[in-house]
Amino acid sequence: MTGSLDQFFKTYKTEVENRMIHFLEDLNSTAQLKEAMRYSVNAGGKRIRPLLLMASYLAYAKDVEKTYSSAAALEFIHTYSLIHDDLPAMDDDDIRRGKPTNHKAFDEATAILAGDALLTYSFEIVAQDDLLSDREKVYLIKLLSETSGPNGMVAGQVLDMAAESKYVDLEALETIHKLKTGELLKFAVRAGAYLGQATDEQISHLDQYAHYMGLIFQVQDDILDVIGEENKIGKPVKSDEGNLKSTYPQLLGIDGAIQQKERYAALAKEALQNANADESYLFQLIDYFSKRDH
Ligand code: IPE
Ligand code: IPE
Ligand code: MG
Ligand code: MG
Ligand code: MG
Repeated sequence: MTGSLDQFFKTYKTEVENRMIHFLEDLNSTAQLKEAMRYSVNAGGKRIRPLLLMASYLAYAKDVEKTYSSAAALEFIHTYSLIHDDLPAMDDDDIRRGKPTNHKAFDEATAILAGDALLTYSFEIVAQDDLLSDREKVYLIKLLSETSGPNGMVAGQVLDMAAESKYVDLEALETIHKLKTGELLKFAVRAGAYLGQATDEQISHLDQYAHYMGLIFQVQDDILDVIGEENKIGKPVKSDEGNLKSTYPQLLGIDGAIQQKERYAALAKEALQNANADESYLFQLIDYFSKRDH
């Protein structure tokens, strides 16, 4: 049996943040670019993706040392996706993680390039980790490209933009959420389980778990855009409404969105039982994803 989720967060959040700072210090790049990369990485954030990766590893193994490079790489890719998501050409938001967005603190060109740099540096971080075998590196780099790239998160962002000002049905909205948010969570869960030597069968059930976790996480993000508090979520409320985004609350209403989230949570629990991981932190994370207020 595992301990409390609070304790798990306390132990590993700081550690993964220290590793990320270290990876950025190691960079031999121009000062301005490094500063812009550091600005967004150090701005805060829940670090839920690296923590999910570690929780997945700990469901099957001990000693998370091997997970830090992929955990940091994942958070860097996520941070890049947020920098670009906030740009005027996309969601045009001015506040992120409680601070001015990267293009506001610097300028648009720097924000685009800081995003590019975080993306590409992620692959280098995994490739240069001496604790990983060549086989593990190839697995992780392939999975990271698949989940973050043109068949993963980037595709989701394209569909999200294309769905602005349009009616989309629940199935189409699920596809957008699966891609733009679920795919990076799939990387987290799968990478952790793979490094922890879960079986292929367990991993296929965990893919299902990650799928529902992506939907739960993004539905809650959509709900917080409507009823959240800016000082808690660290980004503007009503941004989706302003951009005429297709979201769960817009399609189903707040109550409908909450009910949908509960259905996804039940399915995530079932998948976790099938993966023999229902006594891990992964189980407690379902409620955390669903009920978070930031
Ligand atoms: C925001 O992600 C973007 C979504 C996919 C919903 P998070 O809510 O994890 O943002 P941070 O990392 O805590 O800032
Ligand atoms: C963004 O979704 C998902 C990404 C891949 C960045 P949102 O546009 O809803 O994220 P927030 O609300 O700006 O954090
Ligand atoms: Mg967006
Ligand atoms: Mg946005
Ligand atoms: Mg949002």
